Amino acid sequence: MSAPPHQASGLAQLEAVLAAGGPRLARSLARTEERLGEIGESHGAELGQHAADTLSAGGKRLRPLIVFLCSGQASSDATVSAAVAVELVHMATLVHDDVLDRASLRRGHETVYKSAGRAAATQTGDFLFSRAFAELAAMGSPEAVKTLSDASSALARGELMQRADAWSAYVSPERYISRCTLKTARLFEAACRLGAIFGPSENGLGGSVECLGAFGEKIGIAFQIFDDVLDVSGPPERTGKHRGTDLLDGTITLPLILARQRDKELAELDLRTSVTNPAEADAFCERIADTGALTDAREEALTYVQQAKAALDEIDLPAQQRRALELVADGVVERYA
Ligand code: IPE
Ligand code: IPE
Ligand code: MG
Ligand code: MG
Repeated sequence: MSAPPHQASGLAQLEAVLAAGGPRLARSLARTEERLGEIGESHGAELGQHAADTLSAGGKRLRPLIVFLCSGQASSDATVSAAVAVELVHMATLVHDDVLDRASLRRGHETVYKSAGRAAATQTGDFLFSRAFAELAAMGSPEAVKTLSDASSALARGELMQRADAWSAYVSPERYISRCTLKTARLFEAACRLGAIFGPSENGLGGSVECLGAFGEKIGIAFQIFDDVLDVSGPPERTGKHRGTDLLDGTITLPLILARQRDKELAELDLRTSVTNPAEADAFCERIADTGALTDAREEALTYVQQAKAALDEIDLPAQQRRALELVADGVVERYA
């Protein structure tokens, strides 16, 4: 039997979190998995197949885990629905993102875009989005629905910003961080907020929605910076994605921005003409790595991890819950997938 998705991730920290969470956390994640499976099967053969394939290909289920940790590990129906809804939005954005990025490999498998084409991928993403909101709406919290809706809108704006910047000779680090915030961090923030919204009120954690939201935003930025490092460093056997996908697609990320600052010849190269196939992408990745930009980008990600941990100072979390969230924060920059 293959390992459950979250255990196949290679994130030692996450495995420690799961071990510490005990049967209650394991049960919450298992219920999430079960519900995701039901949803994948429930809406017609074709859509369901693409959704189910995406689901069964793996994935770390990091966002559901964060929902549970922020809720104090409650396994209420509402918390499970929130975890399911966040993962469905995440999956929807991945399926759509692979269309935008023309990506052929995800979670070690062919993307829906590659195997079934743009139309099928667009519909599959739309299906996953719609199911996410149906799942959450059933819990009767307009605040929760608005939280997830705001994150989805931010994601779309972030993707548009990325397209607008594609192939640019210069993107400022500040603009890059704004894009990461919209494209990735808002959904992490929403996962944290939803956990706090549906968490047991007897926790008495005043201001927890805001503080946990701030924690989520910071780990989200760190997560995307490190994802962009992994795009350059690979290896595909561990990341489940092709190396240099961002370069082939004209996506300007922090490793490239920093490498261009350090290597003026590299800065002169136009990605459109110098990275036209996987072999050229590989060579370009090596050149970026040679400048030391990957180490510096990871350092930048670590500063956001520190800021995330500092955001937790503002609330009086039980020690075990705080420790688990800190392990997750460390884990976002200690991973391969
Ligand atoms: C990938 O997210 C998309 C980004 C925000 C970089 P994950 O790395 O969490 O994807 P899965 O769910 O584990 O495949
Ligand atoms: C994150 O950006 C994608 C979304 C937030 C939808 P990437 O384009 O870098 O993500 P991967 O590398 O394809 O997973
Ligand atoms: Mg992508
Ligand atoms: Mg990426």
